[in-house]
Amino acid sequence: MDEIAEAAGPNVKIIEDACQAHGASYKGEKCGAFGDVGCFSFYPTKNMTVGGDGGMITTNDERLANELRKLRDCGRVSRYEHDVFGFTSRLNTANAAFGRVQLRHLDEWNERRRSIARRYAGNLKDVDSIVLPPMGMKDIEPVFHLFAIRCDDRDALARHLGENGIDTAVHYPIPIHMQAAYRNAYEYKGGEFPISEQLSKQMLSLPMFPEMTNEQVDRVCQAINEHYA
Ligand SMILES: Cc1ncc(COP(=O)(O)O)c(C=O)c1O
Repeated sequence: MDEIAEAAGPNVKIIEDACQAHGASYKGEKCGAFGDVGCFSFYPTKNMTVGGDGGMITTNDERLANELRKLRDCGRVSRYEHDVFGFTSRLNTANAAFGRVQLRHLDEWNERRRSIARRYAGNLKDVDSIVLPPMGMKDIEPVFHLFAIRCDDRDALARHLGENGIDTAVHYPIPIHMQAAYRNAYEYKGGEFPISEQLSKQMLSLPMFPEMTNEQVDRVCQAINEHYA
């Protein structure tokens, strides 16, 4: 973030995508609080949600906050007046109520995610064939929305885990530029973003949710160890 802020200088606005970072912090400050605007997703799989789809924008800029309130409500400035084109992006009040309750649990859930991540990292540290996500970097407190490992035989490992009743996911098997929408719009053929393309074949997200027990984490690790043994 320091480097991004420096590159942006005083005239370029920073919009943070904190959609997988609810509660994460950098140098003691929460994600979503660095840029001019922070964006959070409450999609149902996120670290906290709202009992359905939803999202939140954070800003300290009062003028921007008023503009954004207007945009989410069809550009409405008063009950019957609209002065810009906007969206229908109001958060349903029942969903907001879910979110208020979930927010009270967020720190505790994130702490459990960090504990699960440490257990994974400890159990898997000697498996040479996989690369673990960065752990405990200075100044960074992660919240492990995912626990994604990297390996050369991703599909075979996923299959082995599946055969042992362990579900995994891939974030994501198709890089954005290879989605039909972008291929068609920009005529991408593949090879333009080789690192993204390589990672899309190597990344595997292991089970990660706050209710996961230590025994379940150990079982996943045992199956991974078996696969490579
Ligand atoms: C990093 C990131 N940005 C943006 C989004 C989009 O969030 P939403 O689906 O709530 O619009 C997601 C959701 O998966 C995400 O993970």
